[in-house]
Amino acid sequence: MPLGPGPEWSVQKNTIPSLKTLEPSEYFAVDIELEFTREACRIVSQELPHIPVQSVAVDFHAQHLPNPKSATSLIWYPGSTLGNLPSKSDKTFSDNQFITNHLERLRSFQAGSSSNSGKSDAQRYLVLLMDSYKHDKASMVNLYASPEAEGCFLSILHKLKRDLKASSFNPDAFTYCPCWNEKSSVVEHQFTALENQEFSIFDCFTEREATIQVSKGDRYSLANSIKPSCEDMRDALSRSGWEPLKSSWDTERQFHIHLARSH
Ligand SMILES: C[S@@+](CC[C@H](N)C(=O)[O-])C[C@H]1O[C@@H](n2cnc3c(N)ncnc32)[C@H](O)[C@@H]1O
Repeated sequence: MPLGPGPEWSVQKNTIPSLKTLEPSEYFAVDIELEFTREACRIVSQELPHIPVQSVAVDFHAQHLPNPKSATSLIWYPGSTLGNLPSKSDKTFSDNQFITNHLERLRSFQAGSSSNSGKSDAQRYLVLLMDSYKHDKASMVNLYASPEAEGCFLSILHKLKRDLKASSFNPDAFTYCPCWNEKSSVVEHQFTALENQEFSIFDCFTEREATIQVSKGDRYSLANSIKPSCEDMRDALSRSGWEPLKSSWDTERQFHIHLARSH
């Protein structure tokens, strides 16, 4: 069960090699994008026709994962979404409730559904890959210092303008800077206002308008890249009810990977 298999190239590059190694009796694609789940099933069926495929489009922050048919299931989590969860700048990684709540949700089975719900023999494993904390702080921040990364993060402001119908908002009047927060183990993607602005936004959920004021020099942290140490990640797994079984590093110690069991 890969979490967020993503688009076609990612399934070819990341999912297929791991399925060839794991040889599961069933493949279950879980992604918030319906198209990605369908695409993933099509590619897996094409490359590994002996593996039965299923898919479900769910938001894994808000909903439980589907119950698999087999008693033992393995979640393959490349960690990208976990690494981008919110964090409070004055809290440590260990105190980050967004991380522990999310990991707890991945552990729990969906109530009232068929297959393994309520069965005491159902066992869930998790393989989680995380970008690591590095003692060389500059190397973590420099990952986001290229013009491509800057363009990618600045596009968030354009998306806010579009999605909040903020027609008079000027997204180009900001500078972008990635900043390392040692306490929370996060690269904060910060935006600083270059001018005063006043604009209205439309909240499509409440169907209400609000006026927003931005002053020159105001700084906003609009995205995170969380980089825990290997020990911190093991600790977060334990605190959210996972039993860490094994942890390893790549040869350059850029990433750590963990095998954990739900108990
Ligand atoms: C950065 S991509 C990672 C793609 C792929 N796993 C890889 O490592 O290349 C994140 C994937 O997670 C999915 N995703 C993001 N948030 C999600 C959520 N809340 N629930 C389910 N899927 C989500 C996205 O649609 C996307 O396919």
